[in-house]
Amino acid sequence: MEKQWKICVLPGDGIGPEITRQAVKVVTAVAEYFKIPLEIEEALIGGAALEKEGMPLPMSTVNRCRAADAILLGAVGDPRWDNQPLSMRPESGLSSLRAKMGLYINLRPAVSYPMLEDVGPLAQGGDFDLLVVRELSGGLYFGEKGIRQEDGVRCAYDVESYSEKEIERIARFAFQAAEKRRKELVSVDKASMMQTSCLWREVVERLAPQFPEVSLRHMYIDHAAMELIRNPRQFDVILTSNLFGDFLSEEAAALTGSLGLAPSASLGYAASGIYEAVHGSAPALAGKDRANPVGAILSAAMMFRHTYSMEMACKAVQWAVMETLKRCRTADIALPQTEPVGTEEMGDIVVQQLREILPSVIPDPVFGAETLEEIQ
Ligand code: IPM
Ligand code: MG
Repeated sequence: MEKQWKICVLPGDGIGPEITRQAVKVVTAVAEYFKIPLEIEEALIGGAALEKEGMPLPMSTVNRCRAADAILLGAVGDPRWDNQPLSMRPESGLSSLRAKMGLYINLRPAVSYPMLEDVGPLAQGGDFDLLVVRELSGGLYFGEKGIRQEDGVRCAYDVESYSEKEIERIARFAFQAAEKRRKELVSVDKASMMQTSCLWREVVERLAPQFPEVSLRHMYIDHAAMELIRNPRQFDVILTSNLFGDFLSEEAAALTGSLGLAPSASLGYAASGIYEAVHGSAPALAGKDRANPVGAILSAAMMFRHTYSMEMACKAVQWAVMETLKRCRTADIALPQTEPVGTEEMGDIVVQQLREILPSVIPDPVFGAETLEEIQ
């Protein structure tokens, strides 16, 4: 176990600060329980950084992030910067940070919650448990972009480019993730139209024999978007590019009942990573105590798993969220005629549930380790 946890918190914009506060409460409760000293530092990103420092990702933020074990990030995006050049928009702060930290893997799990069967436009009452593995440091986001004059009119372009190496490392990660799960991998591309997708398919195919237990299917992005709604149960691990993964992960999140529930982990070669909810900054909800903190809290659970290798703490937080969802709901998932709870209260209830479960997941020195599965 680590001697000390050093976490950098980037609250960002909109609802970012209020949801991150709930994740920090949860992390603090776990640290207190295990008596691990916790050092939390905050730094600026996105619109908040543009306002105070004139840039979306100040160097001081990058340095703090590099010095931390892990980063808990709220959200970036603020309509006040909508008309700025791309490099002066809040979102570029986040994509640059991901690139600067070498985070090429973006994990976006989506599961159906039995207690939320009645919620959301896509509620199906079926069980699903899937993981989107999105490539995060290449593709269309990072290719050359610009505007040129063609026959006297402006012509904008964004280049999508992927090297074999970039494809192979993310594909390898996805195969390995599938090996640990139900051993089914669907690689999503648009190989009928895009050169990058043709190479993507070729590299994924070439890797497949190294993972004989994993069954591999290829699917076009348009078809995958439809299949995800039609029958999400068919998916185990979805491997895809940066842009397609952005779309599919948000769609998968909506299937769970609300975008507000979805967590993510952005990882690279080191154990440190960025843990953030999939959703954006939702400016219309900012400061109203209406946002759902579950995506941020479950992202903290992913931090315990991936940065601290504390599977027990990860499961305890997930369990606490499940128990909380049985008892109360924020506005995004509340049933008509019911009173939703606010962001702060939801966070407090998760912490309360966590404090109840933690003693029972501690390995007992006399009677052996109790597992969370046994408790459930
Ligand atoms: C996400 C967001 C980001 C992305 C933006 C804010 C850069 O939409 O994390 O899904 O497109 O990756
Ligand atoms: Mg997105």
